[in-house]
Parts: sequence; structure tokens; C-alpha cells
Amino acid sequence: MSTAKKEYKRVTVKSLVDMKKNGEKISMLTSYDYSMAKIVDAANVDVILVGDSASNVMAGHETTLPITLDQMIYHASSVIRAVERALVVVDLPFGSYQSDPKEALRSAIRIMKESGAHAVKLEGGAEIKESVKRILAAGIPVMGHLGLTPQSIYKFGTYTVRAKEDEEAKQLMEDALLLEKLGCFGLVLEKIPAELTKKVSESLTIPTIGIGGGKYADGQVLVVHDLLGMTHEFNPRFLRRYMNLYEEMGNAISNYVSDVKSQNFPNDEEQY
Ligand code: KIV
Repeated sequence: MSTAKKEYKRVTVKSLVDMKKNGEKISMLTSYDYSMAKIVDAANVDVILVGDSASNVMAGHETTLPITLDQMIYHASSVIRAVERALVVVDLPFGSYQSDPKEALRSAIRIMKESGAHAVKLEGGAEIKESVKRILAAGIPVMGHLGLTPQSIYKFGTYTVRAKEDEEAKQLMEDALLLEKLGCFGLVLEKIPAELTKKVSESLTIPTIGIGGGKYADGQVLVVHDLLGMTHEFNPRFLRRYMNLYEEMGNAISNYVSDVKSQNFPNDEEQY
């Protein structure tokens, strides 16, 4: 297996399948706004996910369920304005695709048309088959999402690892094969055992992207605020923090407050 990296001026759904074929791991991160997306894209992240985790990270909700289609379009269009290289995938939010395939297609079309995104992501397997088919038939690339699907958190009742038991693992494998057969270009696997990720990844030609799915996935995704340590109360085992921005930003802001109070800011050079 070659580890040589091919240069991609613009990442497409085809590039991702090629990366898997070439043994190149895929990097994916969330972004929800213009400024962050500029930094993430310039750092050569392959895929930017405008995740419905914006509901937690940007809006402070406990779950991903409250975020609306209009709000996802607002986040996605801000991200799109910043991006030159990455493939931008947008989550279809809870309630915008589960009730019927026509509504799913309408929601996907709104995202593509109003934000300029490149693809959509939906959570689920066989139960959303007709919606996935319809969206794909309209020429919209679809990414799947299996394992711990946060939009179903009230069904699970807990954020613990999914598919540890044989029956759920078997169902997940069947769903993964189905999503590939339908024509999805990739698949997020969230919080499942590493060995199951390995089996699924080896059984598919489309890439798997893990979050808490271990090292055998074809790529990895994290929420950018978690990676940067801006969120500090969320500490799952799978998370690697590359910075402690919560502390660094807090210190910088406290210093600003002290400087204003002590009349150290602005100084003579910082005025007109
Ligand atoms: O919304 C999101 O950030 C996601 C990732 C956790 C994969 O779906």
C-alpha cells in the first residue's frame, strides 16, 4: 500500500474514493462559520463537515435535535464562502428527511441550492433507504452515518459505544453495504468498536470516516472546537486535544479586561 500523497487542488467525492484506493487517510473536521472554515481549509483538511453538532457547539443546545434546516443553510453558506479546496458536506438536520423521501429531497435541494454545499449527510441505514435513493437520483452526493447517530439519542438513551453486541454489529454491517450499494460516496462510523470499523472498512470500496471508531477507518473526523480545546467539559476517550484554547482564550480576554480597567489599553500608539 502506497502512502505517497497526491495533491488535490479541489477535493471531490471521487478524490475521497481515490484516497482510499491509494491508502491515503482522509482528514475531516467540522466548521460552522466563515472565519474557522478559512483556517481549516488553508490547513488542507480534505472534508469540512457543517455538522448538526452546531446545535451543541454554536447554539448551546443539549442535543443536535433542535437545529433547523434554515439554520444549517446559514452555517453552510458561511462556510462555503471561505472554502477553496475542501469538499463541504452538510448534515440534513433532524426532522428534515425522516418523514418521507420527497421531503428529504426538498431539504437536500435547499441545502445545495441555498448554501452552495457539495454533498449532504444523513443518519441511518435501511430505514432511510428511499430518501437516500431519491436524493442520489437528483445528482446530490450522499454520505451515510452509522453507529452512534446523535439524532437518535433519545432512542439510545446514552452516548456509550454502539454495536458491541453481535446483532447490532450485523445490522450495522448490512446497513453499510446497503448504503454503498445505493451509491453513497462515504460513511461516518461513530463510536463503534475498532474491530467492527476494520471489518466494515475492508468490506467497502467507499471510504469510512471514524469518530471514536478507531484506527482502521479510512479517515477521521472531529469537531474542530473539541480538537482546539475550546470545549472543555466534553472528554470522551476518542478525543485528542491539540490545544487548550479554552484556557488560552480565557487568559487573553482576562488580560484585555485588566488592561481596560487599568487604562493600559489603548496606549498612545493605539489611538488616532
Ligand atoms: O454533526 C457532527 O459534527 C457529526 C460528526 C460528529 C460526525 O455528525
